[in-house]
Amino acid sequence: MLLRVENLRVKFSVSKGESLEALKGVSFFISKGEIYCMLGESGSGKSVTAKSIIRLLPPQASMDGRIIFEGKELLSLSEKDMRRIRGSNITIIFQEPMTSLNPTMKVGDQVAEVLCVHKNMKKKEALKRVIDLFNELLISDAEKRIHAYPHMLSGGMRQRVMIAMAIIGDPKLVLADEPTTALDVTVQAQILGIMKDLVKRRGVSLFFVTHDIGVASDMADRIGVLYRGILVEEGTVEELINKPLHPYTLDLIKAIPTTEKKEFDIEISEATEDFQGGCPYFGRCSKAKEACRKVFPQWIEKSATHKVRCLNVD
Ligand SMILES: Nc1ncnc2c1ncn2[C@@H]1O[C@H](COP(=O)(O)OP(=O)(O)OP(=O)(O)O)[C@@H](O)[C@H]1O
Ligand SMILES: [Mg+2]
Repeated sequence: MLLRVENLRVKFSVSKGESLEALKGVSFFISKGEIYCMLGESGSGKSVTAKSIIRLLPPQASMDGRIIFEGKELLSLSEKDMRRIRGSNITIIFQEPMTSLNPTMKVGDQVAEVLCVHKNMKKKEALKRVIDLFNELLISDAEKRIHAYPHMLSGGMRQRVMIAMAIIGDPKLVLADEPTTALDVTVQAQILGIMKDLVKRRGVSLFFVTHDIGVASDMADRIGVLYRGILVEEGTVEELINKPLHPYTLDLIKAIPTTEKKEFDIEISEATEDFQGGCPYFGRCSKAKEACRKVFPQWIEKSATHKVRCLNVD
């Protein structure tokens, strides 16, 4: 097992004395070479989970629980030791590449820098490796493109540069936080395909965050469904898509659009007053019973890989 997250809790202090609990005890693992998708709507805590793993949360966040990567507990590492892991063993790809790329530096140099810094490679040799990887990512004219600045590239090309940067140093784990949501659907599908091939070929593990169940089912080996900071169902793609059990997962599947438009149309209710330590989905669940209001649903295991938190499943 490459990564094990145990009972991760994250709180943000928002105003004096008040705090918001973004993750309420999240546990999951990722094996070597596996793609684990975390699926959930806006605000469910997907980005907070990714940023916790690589310890990039802002100072007002407090974390509790354990994050074990290759046997090391990351939450207790010093920032210096964590920096050594970040960027070499664990990397992250964000949704908007323009905020992560340096606008004043040629893209080839930015990607090559990873090899120069983390692998002590000479610039010339590093750039050769960048060209090879750009070719693998189907970036046309790779030899010329390395000299481009970020603003000279399309959104899709910039995102490929980000993927190159995340993967060139041979990390063990890549965290991808909605890496293609800002792109149009055809470019998105192409980049996801390339990314999946690349991580599978290299045996890299991928933690992939998305709000799109279609994307999750194309990408993942296993999917975890997050709702308001709680994992409510987890299973292989086959189990989750063909035998969904949690009413929220069922609602997500029902909401898959049949047209080209790949957006959900589920209304996000802010009915937090309904959450009194019971089921997080209580306020929106069509199958809720009175007990669901007060009783927190424990995991029910349906197979070695499939489990669900719901009082109405037996
Ligand atoms: N820096 C912060 N300060 C305070 N609260 C935060 C901060 N970052 C995130 N949160 C809160 O934590 C919760 C989870 O946020 P997160 O960004 O992980 O959601 P998400 O699932 O990634 O959503 P999206 O799909 O919109 O990206 C939200 O309620 C959010 O408001
Ligand atoms: Mg997010």
